[in-house]
Amino acid sequence: MIRLQNVYKDYGGRPALVNVNLHIGVGEFAFLVGPSGAGKSTVMRLLYREEKPTSGQVFIGGIDITRLDRAQVPLLRRRLGIVFQDYKLLPKQTVFDNVAYILRALGVERMEVSRRVRSALTVVNLEDKEDAYPDELSGGEQQRVGIARAIVNGPPVLLADEPTGNLDPVASLEIVQLLERISQRGTTVFISTHDQFIVNSLRKRVVSLKAGQVAGDVDSGVYEMETIG
Ligand SMILES: Nc1ncnc2c1ncn2[C@@H]1O[C@H](COP(=O)(O)OP(=O)(O)O)[C@@H](O)[C@H]1O
Ligand SMILES: [Mg+2]
Repeated sequence: MIRLQNVYKDYGGRPALVNVNLHIGVGEFAFLVGPSGAGKSTVMRLLYREEKPTSGQVFIGGIDITRLDRAQVPLLRRRLGIVFQDYKLLPKQTVFDNVAYILRALGVERMEVSRRVRSALTVVNLEDKEDAYPDELSGGEQQRVGIARAIVNGPPVLLADEPTGNLDPVASLEIVQLLERISQRGTTVFISTHDQFIVNSLRKRVVSLKAGQVAGDVDSGVYEMETIG
């Protein structure tokens, strides 16, 4: 579902990624770990076409997204749910409206918007907060809204770049357990993090980056700083 092939990326200076090869299958759940500066966010930005590689190919669902022209990028993004460290919620809109935003932009009919938003809010266990504003919620709740927004259109792939970076350990664990439940429904989930605690709590696949290179890739892995840091 996700494939990077001989990916090299530099932003002008020292390369951010060097010869990265990676495959994540349909419905898989994987962590991307590594210290700050290792290239995790660069991988994520390549996957949602915020950046293009300097060389190499990036596939989502068999399509080489490095070849998409600008007009096709929104079509790619519709097939991806993206979760950010800082949630990126619209502060003046309610929880319901934040989650509804993309569906309305796509012209989905009003009753169907309500149905899908309520369903997404039920998945993240926030069905009683639909009229709240983001600043009335805890960080963990705001991130659950971010996840509801990411899944509301039923994407086959969910990408999360440091989704627990602003959260305490209890809220962090809730968030990754929620992402694991979403993957069990068939979604491919790829999470970048440098949070050892959440990685070691789940025992899932762990891909490690070190200075822009894949330094490890293990099933049921743990995050061992000494092997990658
Ligand atoms: N927009 C950018 N312009 C220049 N250099 C960048 C940019 N984004 C990232 N980098 C550099 O690329 C490397 C990898 O960064 P990043 O992908 O953000 O790593 P991580 O998310 O693992 O902390 C770092 O050396 C960083 O300074
Ligand atoms: Mg990062």
